[in-house]
Order: sequence, then structure tokens, then C-alpha cells
Amino acid sequence: MLNTTQARPRDPLRPVRYELPTTIVYGKDALAQLPALLAEAGVTYPLVVTDRGLANNPVPQRVTGILAAAGIRHELFSEVEPDPTIAVVDRMASLIRERGHDGVIGLGGGSAMDAAKAAAAAASAGVAVREIIGPEKVTTDPLPTIAIPTTAGTGSEVTRFAVLSDPEAGLKVSVASMRIMPRFALLDASLTTGLPAALTASTGLDALAHAVESYGSVWNNPISEGMALHAVGLVGTHLRTAAAQPANLEARGAMLAASCIAELAANFTRLGLAHALAVPLGATNHVPHGVGVAMMLAPMCAYNEAVDPMRYRRLAQAFGVDDRPFSALVGDLCWDLGLKARLRDFNFDDADRERVVEIAMRSDNVLANPRPVDGAALRALLDQVR
Ligand SMILES: NC(=O)c1ccc[n+]([C@@H]2O[C@H](COP(=O)([O-])OP(=O)(O)OC[C@H]3O[C@@H](n4cnc5c(N)ncnc54)[C@H](O)[C@@H]3O)[C@@H](O)[C@H]2O)c1
Ligand SMILES: [Fe+2]
Repeated sequence: MLNTTQARPRDPLRPVRYELPTTIVYGKDALAQLPALLAEAGVTYPLVVTDRGLANNPVPQRVTGILAAAGIRHELFSEVEPDPTIAVVDRMASLIRERGHDGVIGLGGGSAMDAAKAAAAAASAGVAVREIIGPEKVTTDPLPTIAIPTTAGTGSEVTRFAVLSDPEAGLKVSVASMRIMPRFALLDASLTTGLPAALTASTGLDALAHAVESYGSVWNNPISEGMALHAVGLVGTHLRTAAAQPANLEARGAMLAASCIAELAANFTRLGLAHALAVPLGATNHVPHGVGVAMMLAPMCAYNEAVDPMRYRRLAQAFGVDDRPFSALVGDLCWDLGLKARLRDFNFDDADRERVVEIAMRSDNVLANPRPVDGAALRALLDQVR
């Protein structure tokens, strides 16, 4: 019988292997280094991948302008949709092979970066994307990939995952392999100043959730823990400012660092219940990833905090607060940022609830969660935000 009233035991000496094949380039004018990084990676004819939402944004032109000025031949593919489908990635992989691209630049939020990572892998393996979905299905090195985030949320620039939508199955699926870690992560805060407040808020909560869930994970370890706590502190200090003052480069830079560091922690620890539920909510009800995570984070923290208050107290301390539960601080942050969406805003019904719980129960993120969970507990968490 599953005991959901106690935290799972932790092994402080659980064996850990931490790898970071990605070189991170961060700071003022980082984008200007792009031609040099391409040369370092041996890329002469990159495909620049971005999403439809950025098509009329100055950001892609900044990137292609730098490439043109350096005399680097390139093409722009700007048809990635949010929560990219397997089909669009297959189209990109064909394009890469037909045109003879020797590298891929993923420019955008998690959607564009994930599409770029998956397409680079499928193109060099010469297979359909479906062949590489799942854990460790990538058996050849992908074309070199440079990930350039324009949201501060997913941290996909340093992860071994590419999350794709499979509309036929109504699921989100992942390519999961160390081989798809980008060669370079290029973090330039000036690329995020055009991000509207609502997206700054929801993607920022995604970054916070990665850090909080990694810290809470039963697979947390001393190497990831310091990164997770630091990322929580950066979000607590800078997210409100980044949302209120879009051009504040210090706050934008701190959030870009936070989202990257949070995934440096989570890449090997997995996450927790907020992601276990938000990922299927993205597939069943098209709840945007950050919005779903933001909805579920405070209820999840309260659920976990109830069995291990001391551990969660350190998260509150990372926010600079010592006398309130961390779940309440997350609730305040969401409220201040205007993150007030509920499941009813996405036509969520009882059938959706059953489907989401069924998918969530199969997720690693349920196993990583510090407090054991059953279907009834997941239904209760969803009911708090209906
Ligand atoms: N690979 C991973 O490890 C990982 C981790 C978490 C989430 N994800 C996935 O990432 C995706 C979500 O990524 P996301 O939250 O970054 O959102 P997104 O990439 O879907 O982008 C959301 C919207 O923001 C717009 N946008 C992006 N940058 C902008 C800018 N600078 N200015 C104005 N608009 C901008 C985009 O055009 C888009 O309309 C989901 O598919 C999720 O499953 C992947
Ligand atoms: Fe996420």
C-alpha cells in the first residue's frame, strides 16, 4: 500500500554522474560572438530555426543580420509552432538534408530550441523523428546545434530533452539523449526585452518550477542542489522586476541565468508533480507550458511541504523570507504577476481530468516527487485550480 503521508527516504550518497557538454556563453553582447562560435563548431551553412510568433519580431533579423555581416551563408526557417509537432520537425530535418546544412541555430523559446535539437538529430541520423522519440534512441551525433533562448523559462539550451507534440496520440513526447545537448548555449539578455509581461511571468514560473522541483526531487544531489537553490533566489529577486520593467537588462540577465541554472540542476534529477500535470495539460487542453506549471506549482509545494516543512523552509529562505511557507510565497508571486488562469479557462472537464491523471501517473516526474502520490491526490491537486 502506498503511504502518501510521509516523504520518501533520501540517500545522501546516491551515486551521481553530472555531465555538461554544452559551452555556455553569457553576458553583454554575447550574440556578437555567434560567428566565432559557428567557426569553433565547424559550421559554415546553418539553418536558423525560429517560431511563427517571432516572425514579425526584430530578434530573428538581428541574428540573420549578424550572420550576413560576417559573410556566413544561412537560411531562416520560421514555421515552428508553440509546442512543436513531430511533423514540423520532420519537415525541418528533410530541409537540412536537402540543402546540405551543417549546423542548426535554435532561436526562440523552448519550442524553437527543442525543434532545432530534434531536427539536428533526425537529420544526421537520416531517420524520421518518430524513430528517435524516447530515452536514448539517438545513436549518432547530431549536427552541431547552437541554442539561443529568447524566453527565460525552459532552459532547453542546456537539456538533454526535446519536447514535441504528437497530435495523433494527444500526447507530448520527448527525444531524450545526452547527444542532443546543444554545442553552445548563447545567453544574451537583450534578446528577451521584447517578451511581453504575461509571457515573462509564465516562462519565469517555469524556470522557478524547474529549480523547486529539482531541489525537491528524490534524485536531487549535492551538485544539483546548490544550482537549484541559487536559481530559486534569482527568480525571487528578479522576476517581478523583469515583468514590470521589460528593458531592465540586469533583471532580464538574471532571469536568463536562472532559467539556465535551473535546468543545469534538473537535467539529471527530473522534476515533480507540477510538471507531471502541466505536460499532459499542454497536450489535452493546450494549456501553455508555463501557464500550466504556474497553476500547479503552489498546490504542489503545499502538498510536499506538509510532509517535509524543514526542506521547503530553505526555499523560502532563498526567497529572503523566514516566516512563511514557500507555497504561500509562490501563490503571492503568481498573484503579483497576474498569473490567475484556471483550468476552466481551457474547457477542462471530468474526462480531461481522468486523461491527465492517467498520463501523469506514468511520468518519471511522479516518481521523482518527494511525497508519494496516487490518482486521488493528483485529482485533488487539479481540483484546487479548476
Ligand atoms: N527541452 C526542455 O528541457 C524543455 C523544458 C521545459 C519546457 N520545454 C518545452 O518548451 C516549450 C515551451 O517553451 P516556452 O515556454 O519558451 O514558449 P514558446 O517557445 O512556445 O514561446 C511562447 C511564445 O513566446 C513568443 N516569444 C518567444 N520569445 C519572444 C520574445 N523575445 N519576444 C516576444 N515574443 C517571444 C513565441 O513566439 C511564442 O509565441 C514547450 O513545448 C515545453 O514542453 C522544454
Ligand atoms: Fe518546464
